[in-house]
Amino acid sequence: MNVRHLIDLNDFTTADWHRIIRLAQEIMEKPQDYYGTCQGKLMATLFYEPSTRTQMSFQAAMHRLGGSVIGFDNPLNSSVSKGESLADTIRIVSGYTHLVTIRHPVEGAAQAASRYSSCPVINAGDGGHLHPTQTLTDLVTLTKYKGTLQNMTIGLCGDLKNGRTVHSILKALSRFPNKFILISTKELALPAYVKDILNASGCPFEEVYSLEEAIPRLDVLYMTRIQKERFSSEEEYERQKNVYVLDRKKLLRARADLAVLHPLPRVDEITPEVDSDPRALYFEQAKCGMYARMALITCLLQDDASRSFKEIPLSHPRNDIKCTNPKCITNHEPSLPHTFRENGGMFICEYCDERMILQ
Ligand code: CP
Repeated sequence: MNVRHLIDLNDFTTADWHRIIRLAQEIMEKPQDYYGTCQGKLMATLFYEPSTRTQMSFQAAMHRLGGSVIGFDNPLNSSVSKGESLADTIRIVSGYTHLVTIRHPVEGAAQAASRYSSCPVINAGDGGHLHPTQTLTDLVTLTKYKGTLQNMTIGLCGDLKNGRTVHSILKALSRFPNKFILISTKELALPAYVKDILNASGCPFEEVYSLEEAIPRLDVLYMTRIQKERFSSEEEYERQKNVYVLDRKKLLRARADLAVLHPLPRVDEITPEVDSDPRALYFEQAKCGMYARMALITCLLQDDASRSFKEIPLSHPRNDIKCTNPKCITNHEPSLPHTFRENGGMFICEYCDERMILQ
């Protein structure tokens, strides 16, 4: 792969995705053939934000490949609690390991980490921005259970504003001819920058409120949790929670071959009675995540063996401009250089994708 880090899945080519998906399928079929293939390799898992699936599936993946894992799942037990910057933490940890996996509550943190790392960095979720390895998981799951990544009508339901898994999967699946139905309240609608990507892709999409009305048309339903931790007030969260609940009654309206996915964890948005429906694939999806990550680790380590470390050059440094997104890493780590892409008179932050028009 030409790209050293996995920050945004769209940095990889479609051929790269297929290579990883194929390898994940091969590992699923004959896991014993891959035991020990990463012996002597060390991965750091730096989790600045809670996680069950992503953290443990990465750890399980590396252990199954014969490698080892170090890291933290609570930054307060590391020197982050003494004020160490992200840049310094990454400089140090990447000097100890062959691979760094990072989850962070702040948008653009993985992109920032990759600038200072001497080994590949994997984005395991950066705030409400992106979650590319969840999307790899989703692509492996769809390939296994639907046999295709295209010509589907895909409904995404719930917190489309803050759901990083939604942003990542839409970016990925809009590379293929698919149709999207975005099911949310107005308050939790998809961010404009992701809609721009859909518009540019040519994939048709519509925004609707009713899950009941949308469900009969779907090949895939991607349910999401309302992301309580991203809300600025408890009252607003209370207004949004429980608007969308998938239950057996709603599933009666769905096609027999619908695939119900959810990145998990779920709270109340899928009732437990749905779990036994053969269309509910979310637990299988979580398992696919471990194989997807085994394949990703294998590919990144194989391809990195011949590279030498170079700090990533800034494409458009503009320290005179400040990103207007308060959740952007550049507003949390003041020493980071600011850098923007320019597009149609707009400045787009290279860390968090915030779009700004300068006055
Ligand atoms: N899907 C997912 O990211 O789950 P965790 O938060 O448990 O890692």
